Amino acid sequence: MLYKTFKKLAFTFDPEGAHDLTIKLMQLAPPLAELYGGQRGDLSGGRYTLKTRHNNSWSFPIGLAAGLDKNGEAIDFLTRLGFGAIEVGTVTPKPQSGNPRPRLHRYIADESLRNSMGFNNHGMEFLARNIAHTSRNSKVLGVNLGKNKVTSNDQAALDYQKLYQKFCRGADYLVINISSPNTEGLRSLQEVDNFKIILDALERGRREYFCPLWVKIAPDLEPQEISALLEVIKEYKLAGVIATNTTVLSERGEGGVSGRLLAAKAQRVRTQILDELRETPRIELIGVGGVSSFEQVWEFWKHGGRLMQIYSSFIFQGPAILNSFRRQIDYLLDKNQVDTLAELLDNIDLATR
Ligand SMILES: Cc1cc2nc3c(=O)[nH]c(=O)nc-3n(C[C@H](O)[C@H](O)[C@H](O)COP(=O)(O)O)c2cc1C
Repeated sequence: MLYKTFKKLAFTFDPEGAHDLTIKLMQLAPPLAELYGGQRGDLSGGRYTLKTRHNNSWSFPIGLAAGLDKNGEAIDFLTRLGFGAIEVGTVTPKPQSGNPRPRLHRYIADESLRNSMGFNNHGMEFLARNIAHTSRNSKVLGVNLGKNKVTSNDQAALDYQKLYQKFCRGADYLVINISSPNTEGLRSLQEVDNFKIILDALERGRREYFCPLWVKIAPDLEPQEISALLEVIKEYKLAGVIATNTTVLSERGEGGVSGRLLAAKAQRVRTQILDELRETPRIELIGVGGVSSFEQVWEFWKHGGRLMQIYSSFIFQGPAILNSFRRQIDYLLDKNQVDTLAELLDNIDLATR
């Protein structure tokens, strides 16, 4: 109810104005999160907890995807909502202003967004300070890393190296973002040889201080490109893959499209990845892209997936989407007569809905 009223007001602003205002409000009054259906207390019992192989303990199977809190200004608020984990960033080493406005568009009937933000952010020093000074309310915190626009692809590995060093101690996991369509040439870093250059540059840092490292990929890759990337992920022993980022739909205009218009494409990519990783359980998948209903989460689980993230459906449906997912999980646990989600997913082949 509260979010409905808030959304009515916020949607009278231009999308980026509404976004900036929301971040400000979140920053000012973190305890307000409780009014928006914050469920920190309810999640603490471990009923919904899922652990990654590297012991990141998500208190709920749905996390917040990167890009909403790029500068880590609302961590204290967001971690009081029902998410199991929060991913901040994309952060670049130096501050940068991003692409010219307008660069964020809403498709209300499609519950979708199109953005061409271009990694606008205040840089790594600013984010690191925010992380150090805010409460995470015991939630898992990921930091999503990107290269500066002015850094050429030849030098990109150095940017990721700096960012790894900066955040490996303060974050629970890190993500190499090479899949935003809004930084020219970034997506070509997904080509195996280019990706390996970045990973080689990170090797020493990873040996000195271990932090689970993920890579976030685009939904517009060909199946064989995805297979090739999975081989590299295995070779370099990354924690896993986050799929997917936004998709390019040129008929809609520049930038990347998220939300329902992305759902089918992202799901195809996730299904391929789950199929190919079936024999390599130490490499995990965080599913993201167009997830707006529990039906999709269930399908993902039935296919062997576990953790997911949302962004657009959170904008359109508000924190209520998390409560709705929680109620449906409760129903599933009761129906299948198990106490915890982890137990349910361990026996997902037998589970019914
Ligand atoms: C306005 C906006 C900004 C985004 N910024 C980032 C970003 O900085 N880094 C990133 O990895 N993904 C970014 N994303 C992509 C989301 O994290 C997510 O992968 C994508 O929106 C698909 O999920 P969804 O359909 O649930 O929105 C952004 C998405 C939106 C809508």
